[in-house]
Amino acid sequence: MVKLVVTDKDGRDVEIDARPGLSIMENIRQLPRSVEAICGGLCSCATCHVLLDDEAMRRVPPRRYEERVMLETSRAFDPQRSRLSCQIKVTAELEGLRLTVAPDED
Ligand code: FES
Repeated sequence: MVKLVVTDKDGRDVEIDARPGLSIMENIRQLPRSVEAICGGLCSCATCHVLLDDEAMRRVPPRRYEERVMLETSRAFDPQRSRLSCQIKVTAELEGLRLTVAPDED
């Protein structure tokens, strides 16, 4: 298992033991006040939007073009910090990664 620290939509930090090989989205969607992930990981909804700090951004693989395009549809898009959590696979290298669930789009 890989420890992740998730700040939920209420600003609470929740530590989870994530399953490697699954995406971050698949590991955090069951938390209350977390991502909705409406499309189930198909990179077509942006409801799995999370924000990473600089250090975390350096530890994850770069965005693909399709992810960037989908993120740009989000009002909370931050070019420096935004990622789709369904597009990042959990690996041992991500131990201790911190991420924040993006605010609702209303
Ligand atoms: S779950 Fe829909 S884009 Fe990630």
